[in-house]
Amino acid sequence: METMDRDRRIELLEDLFRKMYPKLYRFLYWKLQDGNVAEDITQETFVRACTQLNNKAVTDNVSAWLFTIARNLCLDYWRKNGRRLRETPIYDELSPHLVGTQKDLLENMLEQQGWQIVIEALSTLKLEHKKAIILRHFEDCSYEQSARQLGITVPAFTSLLNRARSKFFQAIVSQLSPKTAKKRLGHKECFFLLKYFGLDWPENPDIDITQRSKMYFDNYAYLYEKDRHLSYPQSIDQALLARVDWNSKVIGVDFGTGLGHTAEKMSSRLDRVYAFDISANMLNLAKARLNQLKCWNIKLAIGDLSTVLSINQADLATCVCVLHHILDPGKAIQVMARSLKPNGVLIIADFGRHHQDCFNYSRSDVWLGFHPQQLTRWLKEAGLNHIWVKEHDDLCFSFCDSDGHKDPIPLIMAGASKA
Ligand SMILES: C[S@@+](CC[C@H](N)C(=O)[O-])C[C@H]1O[C@@H](n2cnc3c(N)ncnc32)[C@H](O)[C@@H]1O
Repeated sequence: METMDRDRRIELLEDLFRKMYPKLYRFLYWKLQDGNVAEDITQETFVRACTQLNNKAVTDNVSAWLFTIARNLCLDYWRKNGRRLRETPIYDELSPHLVGTQKDLLENMLEQQGWQIVIEALSTLKLEHKKAIILRHFEDCSYEQSARQLGITVPAFTSLLNRARSKFFQAIVSQLSPKTAKKRLGHKECFFLLKYFGLDWPENPDIDITQRSKMYFDNYAYLYEKDRHLSYPQSIDQALLARVDWNSKVIGVDFGTGLGHTAEKMSSRLDRVYAFDISANMLNLAKARLNQLKCWNIKLAIGDLSTVLSINQADLATCVCVLHHILDPGKAIQVMARSLKPNGVLIIADFGRHHQDCFNYSRSDVWLGFHPQQLTRWLKEAGLNHIWVKEHDDLCFSFCDSDGHKDPIPLIMAGASKA
């Protein structure tokens, strides 16, 4: 009986070791930020578990029991070696609050090294923003405790935390690029994460982001002409249209047309141009502008690229500086590809990848520009052929960042055609 018990214990421990070692190691790694120490403590956790197994019946929540041992060993380590704020655990703080599918999501995030994104995002924040997020969300300090720690008033802490959350959100979203594709969070994980942190992440991000864009561009419409003139590369439309072989091109579509600058350039060479935008104010001003320019063959209409637009007769489709406002540019490219007839051509111009803090969620920018590989992948996924991408380091946008500095953002252009 005793032998059987011992055999069963060994079997159980082996099984536990196999299943739990990677999870415990990962958990300890993120707590300690040191692979060697994490490995030592993971092993020590199993040694402790082994001795405790001799004394007590295994509870039905073995995993929680192992995590408790690991957490206590970690506390011992910190007591002896000191603990830095930056290394405060995340999983640990979250796990008691999680149930069912949330736990699965969190597991998925860990599987995809999602926390690395969180940690990277945190590391890009200013020290005061980082401290605010860590105190409130990771250390679970109250507003009063956090304010006291930072030596500021509670209202000052509240507004600091709001700014910090917004920057944190931007930092997370801006990492969703192919460069970090392996580690990227899915929308679901991102949604859950941001919801956990109390950030304003919408139930339906597609609709919410489109609404924000619409409101933003409705308000901004009256300043747009001047800003476009000041901030866009002067020859952006010419550079784009120089890519087109105009032979037998009849119908054009410009997506996210704004005041119709690209549509205007297309209108003299095509029979008809459709120009879509989500912003009614942009379209009203575009109408006045295009009438003045006598571009009678342009038909303006409200149209949202994140839904389906039913035109499938275009010889040429263009999209200038719109994709970085859209949550799912891949889907938008599919919508545009559907607008083409066979041999029709799609041309996109947008921001190349940048890190400027002129990027601003409330200003409705969602993407910090694009890598060539990203555009290539999306064009391919939309079933298009003859894909090309060109980064124009000589043609740059120039927007002011929050300190009033202008850092150039290179133009990226891409195109493809339908079989
Ligand atoms: C930066 S402006 C570019 C306008 C124009 N293409 C140009 O080159 O001047 C972005 C435009 O995209 C529009 N837009 C944003 N999201 C959109 C969406 N989901 N569908 C269609 N248009 C959108 C905005 O209303 C705005 O007019």
